[in-house]
Amino acid sequence: MSKKWNVYVTYRIPEPPLELLAGYCEVEVNPHRRILTREELLEAVQGRDAVLCLLSDVIDSEVLDRANGVKIFANYAVGFNNMDIKAATERGILLSNTPGAVTESTADMAWALLFAVARRVVEADRWIREGNFKQWLPMGCLGLEFAGKTLGIVGAGRIGQAMARRASGFGMKILYTGRSRYPEFEQATGATWVEKEVLLKEADFVSLHLPLTPETHHYIGEAELELMKPTAVLINTARGPVVDEKALVRALREGKIWGAGLDVFEEEPRLAEGLRDLPNVVLCPHIASATWETRTRTGFMAAENILAALRGELPPNCLNPEAYQLG
Ligand code: GLV
Repeated sequence: MSKKWNVYVTYRIPEPPLELLAGYCEVEVNPHRRILTREELLEAVQGRDAVLCLLSDVIDSEVLDRANGVKIFANYAVGFNNMDIKAATERGILLSNTPGAVTESTADMAWALLFAVARRVVEADRWIREGNFKQWLPMGCLGLEFAGKTLGIVGAGRIGQAMARRASGFGMKILYTGRSRYPEFEQATGATWVEKEVLLKEADFVSLHLPLTPETHHYIGEAELELMKPTAVLINTARGPVVDEKALVRALREGKIWGAGLDVFEEEPRLAEGLRDLPNVVLCPHIASATWETRTRTGFMAAENILAALRGELPPNCLNPEAYQLG
């Protein structure tokens, strides 16, 4: 029996959410082991009822114009800077994301990067593989401790708070900054809200948890890096363009800060010139949400958003309810 709806998935995701969709829809998944080219994406969205797309698929007016019949583009991500909300709303097309799906895995990853940079884990691993471990050295590979230090959280939303909660075991002082204040978070963790400049000057470790918007583009640039301690570490698991990567390379090279841990980059998958040659930076290919649990949960949330839209309901994580009202 042919199914009522036709859904396109722009890259293979864990099976269980695809099975949920397949219970109600014909599901076609990008057959390639690579993301779609722009041309392929423009072609693939035609004649569908819904599209499950990636954070690397740019959903702009050109794609939306080709997507005649599509009721929803469900992003397989929390961040949605790849989608033009205004253009979708004007066309009555719903957009959704997956808030909450990646919170714990992203906070874990921010800590993984922080450990790796502060205790020079990757550098030490390289060194030992190159056959350099001949004797124990009292001054070899010295790093930084966490106990009693100050963690600066930029953007204390779900992920920022989860990052901060993990600091309690280290007896750290927590500062945070950002547009919103969270009294319950302050009470639970002892965190204090401060101005951006104060946080940058006082924090030993700065972790970024901001969405990418025109206001947060290059939130950390040359001036901000100047304010940080020479022993400070910067962690970015948010979005690459939140940091001016060229300025960061200069700061790391000149020892303006101790190190950085980056899971995201300004022009993914490209790295700013010089970044890969620096020993005091740990680089990961945007894998903060890359756990089976998170990627499955993300898939279920995207699938639920799609099924709601197809049934004519407001998707639980709709980014543009105005489009629903219009529809
Ligand atoms: C990952 O980067 C996400 O936004 O879900």
